[in-house]
Amino acid sequence: MAKNQMEWTPEQLMETMRGFQPACVIGAALELNLFGKLARADMTAAQAARAIKGTARGARALLNALAALGLLTKRGEVFSLTPFARKHLVPDSPAYLGWGAMHAAHIMKSWTQIADCVRTGKPAPRPPADSEAGKIRHKNFIMAMHNYASERSRIIAGSLNLKGVKTMLDVGGGPGTYAFAFADALPGARVTIFDTPPTCAIADANIRQRGLQDRIRTQPGDFIKDPIGDGYDLILMSSILHIYSPAENTRLLKKGFRALNPGGLLVVLEIEVDDTGTKPPGGALFSINMLVNTEGGSSYSTKEMKSWLTAAGFKTVKAARPADGITALIAARPR
Ligand SMILES: C[S@@+](CC[C@H](N)C(=O)[O-])C[C@H]1O[C@@H](n2cnc3c(N)ncnc32)[C@H](O)[C@@H]1O
Repeated sequence: MAKNQMEWTPEQLMETMRGFQPACVIGAALELNLFGKLARADMTAAQAARAIKGTARGARALLNALAALGLLTKRGEVFSLTPFARKHLVPDSPAYLGWGAMHAAHIMKSWTQIADCVRTGKPAPRPPADSEAGKIRHKNFIMAMHNYASERSRIIAGSLNLKGVKTMLDVGGGPGTYAFAFADALPGARVTIFDTPPTCAIADANIRQRGLQDRIRTQPGDFIKDPIGDGYDLILMSSILHIYSPAENTRLLKKGFRALNPGGLLVVLEIEVDDTGTKPPGGALFSINMLVNTEGGSSYSTKEMKSWLTAAGFKTVKAARPADGITALIAARPR
């Protein structure tokens, strides 16, 4: 067995196969806003059932399971939030992680269909984008990106040499997390977030909430089909290439090259995976996420992405590992 590969035991196999259970329990509690209700008052199962408009039997099973997982405490018949749940699972908390947790719960439905996706090569069906369920799923997905990138974006913005950058384009910038971190690291620079119209609406609200309208703007569009503009000193493509096929990525990187000023930088951030596609495990498993959720996406190795950047016209491409499990490629447009 290769070094650092997991040693399996029968117990571990069974435990792994039951691993979905806690995630489903937490996802259900978030979907029912149970943590939000418990933030207002401690409750018995009967009171919680009324608050979430559910059944007493269902509420009791869910509350007991949450107490077993250590997210609630139970004294007599009364349930209350633990400090962790109050900090991270109550929607109004500044440290709310429910977006990321709910996004995981949503994509879990697609992961149950891996075998079908392997057979057909098509992503798992999902609710239409304009349905109520589709809109909830989209908001959770976009704000999950904020949960994932809040800390990392600041580390990455601080790790790059950004001297002279006055204009930045964040391609597929999502909720604006990277735009906020780069705007902070680059006082005086202007940042454009290019994303789909529904995502730009979320980013606009986040920009307004931070009072950054004079520094950061959104540009709604489709970066695969539409022009992305030009005149930028810095272009970021974070967690974008894994959504698309190698051919689409090569075309997008060519657009990126043309959108840069001479001497400008294009920074690609991606989930790390090696040339074998098997290490680290997070990178290999992420390819499954793209199989079940996209038409042509995958995790890509540094070597593959470098070859597209070279085909797009970049002469020098530096690779870095700015955070655990993340690959950064930094390419400069020749002067
Ligand atoms: C995985 S998220 C990454 C968000 C952000 N860059 C980050 O790293 O946290 C992908 C983003 O790309 C956007 N996106 C995907 N395809 C797009 C397209 N063809 N045109 C515009 N935006 C797109 C999505 O709306 C989403 O905001």
